[in-house]
Amino acid sequence: MTSKELKELFAKTYGKGGEIGTYFAPGRVNLIGEHTDYNGGHVFPCALTIGTYGAIRVREDDVLRFFSVNFPNGGVVTSSIHSLAPGKDTGWANYPKGVVWAFEQKGHPLPSGADILVCGNIPAGSGLSSSASLEVLTGLMLSDSFGLDIPMEELALIGQFSENTFNGMNCGIMDQFASAMGQKDCAIFLDTNTLEYEYAPMKLDGIRVVVTNSNVKHSLVTSEYNTRRRQCEQALTELQEVVDIPSLGALTTEMFDFLAPSISDPVIRKRAKHAVYENRRTIDAVDALKAGNIELFGKLMNASHVSLRDDFEVSCREMDVLAEEAWKIDGCLGSRITGGGFGGCTVSLVKEDAIDAFISQVGAAYTKRTGLKADFYVVDIGQGAHAIL
Ligand code: GLA
Repeated sequence: MTSKELKELFAKTYGKGGEIGTYFAPGRVNLIGEHTDYNGGHVFPCALTIGTYGAIRVREDDVLRFFSVNFPNGGVVTSSIHSLAPGKDTGWANYPKGVVWAFEQKGHPLPSGADILVCGNIPAGSGLSSSASLEVLTGLMLSDSFGLDIPMEELALIGQFSENTFNGMNCGIMDQFASAMGQKDCAIFLDTNTLEYEYAPMKLDGIRVVVTNSNVKHSLVTSEYNTRRRQCEQALTELQEVVDIPSLGALTTEMFDFLAPSISDPVIRKRAKHAVYENRRTIDAVDALKAGNIELFGKLMNASHVSLRDDFEVSCREMDVLAEEAWKIDGCLGSRITGGGFGGCTVSLVKEDAIDAFISQVGAAYTKRTGLKADFYVVDIGQGAHAIL
């Protein structure tokens, strides 16, 4: 979408005139390192070229107005910079509202209101982080338009804070970080304990990242997610009785195996095992990538799926079918559920010359076994959030 198109949509909604800024923030796909980001572990996501576009014009009063091209029936949602509070309203506009509120909480109160229009092209419920992209987009629009100059990493943290406190989803930092900090053709190897990161080139010779949308999103995603997070915290508390660690991510797999009996509940023990082993797999996968060993990277992706299915229990039948069918394809190096779980997408590494077979065979088998239709995207890795000129 171009700046001109966005400005036209904006003028149609709010009227012409004034200075209108136009922006984009991407969604993300995570290659490996799932449910590690709230355990002080590593993640390896990349920004997509799909995401959320936005246009903004600063107002002189304290009124806030929001309009989403994706939810036209919701009309223009009106609020004020002084009347925002968690838990007051529902609906899509709670994401940008949460970010305005979080700006104030984090020491960046807005001097006045603004009119905001957004338009996203991430498939709904796909788990490709449409909410994080909306949060990062809002943060960047506000920071830029009000001359606040907030660094991108801080915008990611503000987005996460607002989602945790305003929207009640206890997410980690991965999605917002990927949306804010993504770099074209690279994945981000992020240590969520320190927020140190490095970019790893993902333009692989003859191999592409394929995202498969199950078109399934089971309810309870947020509540199950928050439960997993609590279970990991409980495991950490029990382990801290016997070892001095700040997070599960600080444990090696050997240390975990030795200490695991001190976690009393077997379910909690399985959750912690996933967090520790997935962190190890992520570090090993990035090492393998750097060494040019894509086969090993793919195997670690498969192991990640199995662990998410059996130990963390955030998969579901549809996602297992997609992964199992992908594993059967010659030329598919690895495939796993990506994101929070309970539906959404798988991510696979597929040799270019096997992509057509992958799409037709996995698609047909998925429909045969579930009665559903999957969508396939051969992914381009895009740039993090930015102004569109
Ligand atoms: C969701 C959350 C992320 C992360 C993933 C699982 O996408 O928003 O913070 O925890 O689930 O890896």
